[in-house]
Amino acid sequence: MDGNGRWAKKRFMPRFFGHKQGVDALVRTVQACADRGIEYLTVFAFSSENWKRPSDEVSGLMGLVLVAVSKYLTKLAKEGVRIRIVGDRSAVSDKVREAWGQAERATEHNRRITLSVAFNYGGRWDVVQATRCALADGVQPEQLDEARLGRYMAMSYAPDPDLFIRTGGEVRISNFLLWQVAYSELYFTACLWPDFGDAELDAALADFRARERRFGGVKLEPAPQVVSA
Ligand code: IPE
Ligand code: MG
Repeated sequence: MDGNGRWAKKRFMPRFFGHKQGVDALVRTVQACADRGIEYLTVFAFSSENWKRPSDEVSGLMGLVLVAVSKYLTKLAKEGVRIRIVGDRSAVSDKVREAWGQAERATEHNRRITLSVAFNYGGRWDVVQATRCALADGVQPEQLDEARLGRYMAMSYAPDPDLFIRTGGEVRISNFLLWQVAYSELYFTACLWPDFGDAELDAALADFRARERRFGGVKLEPAPQVVSA
């Protein structure tokens, strides 16, 4: 969800205003995905590296979590959205941790769409935490394979993403789901996150449908037809 700051700057507004609009874009997008039958939507809300931002921006973002949960939780819960948080919760404040816990508990029986919010998340952090948990469980080196380690990854409850969308014009993954995007189709758009909505989602989905996915294999051509005389 990139481009909030630039969206605000273009309007001579503080960056925080862009983040606020970004929350509305997220709620819109969850709805749009649910309407299209998409069962999993995962968003990168705050990365392990975002702590490097000026402290007033960091505290603004933390405050926005509390506002967003109190403003939208009831609506999302009613619409069948299950909320799950992925990331390192140990570093966030008690208030934010409680808001996340509240969002998860209030929606745990919902099944229409799972919204995973990556918060204080990093793809490398995820690989390290999974490895640590596997070691702590006593998994031996010869027992460790992709499937086994995959069960310790933060999003082991969800299938790997089919489509990865980055808004805001940068063409990089920036330490999002590194393990899980091995075979995802990547889609980059200059659209700034607060402008994202139905039309942009449909454009990304149309692009995705035109891709040929081989997962490292080859495309099997239909056997040539034999015409007998
Ligand atoms: C993304 O928007 C939002 C978060 C990472 C929280 P940015 O804040 O990165 O917006 P730009 O890239 O400065 O426009
Ligand atoms: Mg950015």
